[in-house]
Amino acid sequence: MAQRVRKAVFPVAGLGTRFLPATKATAKEMLTIVDRPLIQYAVEECLAAGIEEFVFVTGRNKGAIEDHFDHAYELEATLVQRGKKAELKQTEDATIKPGNAIFTRQQKPLGLGHAVWCARHWIGDEPFAVLLPDELMIGSPTCTAQLVATHEKTAGSVVAVVEVPREQTKSYGIAAIRAEKDGLAEITGLVEKPDPAEAPSTLALIGRYVLLPEVFDHLDKHEAGAGGEIQLTDALAKMIGGKPFHAMRYAGGRYDCGNRLGFLEANLAVALGRADTAGETRALLDRLLKG
Ligand code: G1P
Repeated sequence: MAQRVRKAVFPVAGLGTRFLPATKATAKEMLTIVDRPLIQYAVEECLAAGIEEFVFVTGRNKGAIEDHFDHAYELEATLVQRGKKAELKQTEDATIKPGNAIFTRQQKPLGLGHAVWCARHWIGDEPFAVLLPDELMIGSPTCTAQLVATHEKTAGSVVAVVEVPREQTKSYGIAAIRAEKDGLAEITGLVEKPDPAEAPSTLALIGRYVLLPEVFDHLDKHEAGAGGEIQLTDALAKMIGGKPFHAMRYAGGRYDCGNRLGFLEANLAVALGRADTAGETRALLDRLLKG
């Protein structure tokens, strides 16, 4: 029987070099989509999947993430004093329950696999989710909720994938699969950022995983892969042939907010999809397009 997924890891130590100068002094995970930072969307995606314990693997200059999920005493006291109930609720909704968040530092930028390994003591011997917050997923049920539901059926590891144009395989972890049924397929191969000519498929990993704790046995070895970094994809590749391991096609909205255009698209898509901002955003776009 599958063990319940209770914990999520957010690797948030990255320098955000694809988004300079915005990320020079600000964590890329604090960049805002409409009115909340990317990291809050990732936390809310987990909460909607029944996951309430979080490990943030951070680095220097990421203090704002920790502050964001804490109580903001002066702000909240002022909002109470001024009777601003809606604003107070928005602030309080961005708070994580006491004791449910751990912040640990990666210390050296050795790769995504190393960042996830830094969370090992806080995860222990149970399945866990990993979310890369610069990939924004919009959909209901959430991408992580879909992965958790799949894990409940397979009791194994499961990663979300989407089809990408072949020339983009060099930006992603790529999965080879067999026996696909209803969007779920066994994984037969995994390779990090392959050349388009050598990619075994065009199915890309999109930064959403539910993993069995066995992955730490492979990450423990600290083997460097693509780009000289310790890659999560390489550790996952070593799990093939062991316990059940599936790729799940994700069909909801996905925005790569680690680059300018993806970030802009995410802002527009979220604004157009929200009842409180859709009308005004549409009017604003019409105005701008008419020039
Ligand atoms: C990371 C992973 C890669 C995955 C991608 C999704 O790469 O290493 O396997 O496909 O995230 O965004 P990065 O974009 O951090 O280089």
